[in-house]
Order: sequence, then C-alpha cells, then structure tokens
Amino acid sequence: MLKIDFHPTTVKKEKPEPSTLGFGKYFTDHMFIMEYNDQDGWHNARIEPFHYLTLHPAATVFHYGAEIFEGLKAYRTPDGTVQMFRPIENIRRMNNSAERLRLPQFSEEDGLQILDTFVRTEQDWVPSAPGTSLYLRPFLFGNDETLGVHSIHHAMFVLIASPVGSYYKEGINPVRIMIESEDVRAVRGGTGYTKCGGNYAASNRAGENAEKLGFSQVLWLDGVHRKYIEEVGAMNVMFRFGDEIATPALTGSILPGITRKSCIELLRADGWTVNERLISIDELEDSMKTGALTEAWGCGTAAVVSPIGELYYNGHSCIVGGGKIGEVTQKLYDTLTGIQWGRLPDVHGWIRKI
Ligand code: PLP
Ligand code: COI
Repeated sequence: MLKIDFHPTTVKKEKPEPSTLGFGKYFTDHMFIMEYNDQDGWHNARIEPFHYLTLHPAATVFHYGAEIFEGLKAYRTPDGTVQMFRPIENIRRMNNSAERLRLPQFSEEDGLQILDTFVRTEQDWVPSAPGTSLYLRPFLFGNDETLGVHSIHHAMFVLIASPVGSYYKEGINPVRIMIESEDVRAVRGGTGYTKCGGNYAASNRAGENAEKLGFSQVLWLDGVHRKYIEEVGAMNVMFRFGDEIATPALTGSILPGITRKSCIELLRADGWTVNERLISIDELEDSMKTGALTEAWGCGTAAVVSPIGELYYNGHSCIVGGGKIGEVTQKLYDTLTGIQWGRLPDVHGWIRKI
C-alpha cells in the first residue's frame, strides 16, 4: 500500500455558487503529489494544501512536452454518498499514455488508492446541484532538469479537482460543430490515442478559428487521407444512420474514450447495432443530403452526451435532426447520467463508491 502523508490546509476556501461553476474555474482545498526517480520509483506521496508548483526552468515538460493527463468525475448521489465512474479505465489509459511517452507507470492498486483517498479528503467539494460533479484531473510529467533530449528519469504525478457544471455553454442543447479540412490533430503511429497535452496544443489553431465562426468545437478528419471522421476536440462522436449506430473505429489516432466505450455497451444492451468502423466525409455528406443521418452526438467525461445540431464542412452547413436532441441521444444521456449520479442501478459494475 502507498504511504500518503496528509498536510491539511488551515484556510478552507468558500465553495462557489453552483450556478457559476462552468468548467474548470474553481479548485478544491488540496492537491495530491508524488514524485518519481529511477532509484526510488514513486515516492513522497502526499496530500497538501492547493498551491502553485515550483519547477526548474529546464524541466523536460516545458521543452519537450512530456505530459499526459486524465479526466474523470466524482458524483453526489441522491442519498448524499459520493461515487466515481469506471476509474480503473482512467488508470489503465493513463498507463497506456505513459507507455507511449516513456513516462513512468504506476500500479492500478496505487492509482485507485490515490483517487479514493483524495476524493474522500475533498468530498465536501462534490456539488449536489443537478448536472454538477467534481472533475478530477490527474496529470503526470517529465521533470528532469537538463536540456538534452533524453529518456525520462524524474517525473511528477499531480491530482487536482474542480467542481464543475456543464462543459458547453449550451448544456444539453445541441452544439454546432465545424469539420476541419486543413489542420490535423494526430496520425497513426503518433500520440493520438494517448491523452497527452501536445494533442490539445496541436488542436488550438483550428479550435480558435472554429470558435470565431461561432462553432463549439472542431471535428477532425484523419491525418493521412483527410477523409475519415475521427473525433471532436474533447469528445468522441457517434452517428445514427437509420437503424445503425456508427462510431469511428479505434485506429490509433483517436482517444479510446471511456464514455464512448460505455455508450457502445449501453446501446448494444438496448438491442442497437453499433458499428465501430471507418466513416468517410463523403458518406457523412451523402447521409446528410438523403436524410439518412438522423442523429449525431459527442460523448466524453466533461461533455457527457452532447447532441450535435449542426455540422459545417467546406462552406456548407447541415442541420442534424432538426437541430434538436434525438431520441437515441436523449435515452443515452438519461441512462448514462442516471448511472453516474446514482439514480439508476449499477448493473454493469461501473461504479466505485467512496
Ligand atoms: N476525445 C478527446 C480528444 C478527449 O479529450 C476526450 C475527453 O477525455 C474524449 C475523446 C472522451 O474520452 P472520455 O470519455 O474517456 O472522457
Ligand atoms: C475530459 O472529458 O475529461 C477531457 O479531458 C476533455 C478536456 C480536454 C476538457
């Protein structure tokens, strides 16, 4: 078992008004930190008052981008208890990301202990207003104090938490998405399947352009053919073509979303045919013209299940599903959020109580 020291804060912050939460603006009283070096492995695990990090200016993370992160939530249930959704999946994905960037991994047991202990410490910060939760953001970065491009021998793992409301200002209302035809986010063999900071930095330019034009986020095409649908900035995507639900296959350049995996499992349990496959932009455009595309939505921890009401590509705009949330999207949203917030039974064994 990991030894976690606790240094409680002497000054507790005031909790924000639930209506002002938004996403990632407020932080709790404490943070978790542990350090790594080749000799000692992970060590010096502690929970301390939330504070700024002091790092050497040559630290690897600042120069060569050795940084990975995760995002998961703790939810307040109707009986007042606190629970997490599939945290083991986040731990496994973080280790996969670490493997790709050659950052140190940690045991699943330690990962769960860190999450449990930290959420228990900050449990008063888990909000209870509808649609709110405590967003947990673990991150891990290379911290060698030298400018040579080299393998990583020192690293730091930090966990912070932020009480959040909805990610998009639209809430559960449909978002407008722009399909990006110039910039690409990732290619196979690169880091697209990991949750590393660089993937998001590579997304900034297109995201900013889309935002200027009034779109919430960019939908990426694959980096080689610029033809196949990949994912949105902070969520995976799903489409309903008549009786088929289709979602881009995990080809290595998109993030294997935990919400995506959960949606696929829920839809299949409900009798839907769900295909993980290549979806070309031509197929998508045709399906918009013929009306075969009846629903589109994104899914992710922060975004939950978010209907897509408009898709814009190369100067053309298409309203999807009359710009309203569709029946499959709504059912998925209700079921998933029902399980996450403890209003529905956890028949899949996805919940970890604190
Ligand atoms: N794709 C990207 C690029 C993301 O940042 C996220 C959010 O984590 C997702 C997909 C959805 O993943 P998950 O459902 O695990 O949150
Ligand atoms: C999440 O859904 O947890 C994410 O990481 C999306 C994020 C980049 C805000």
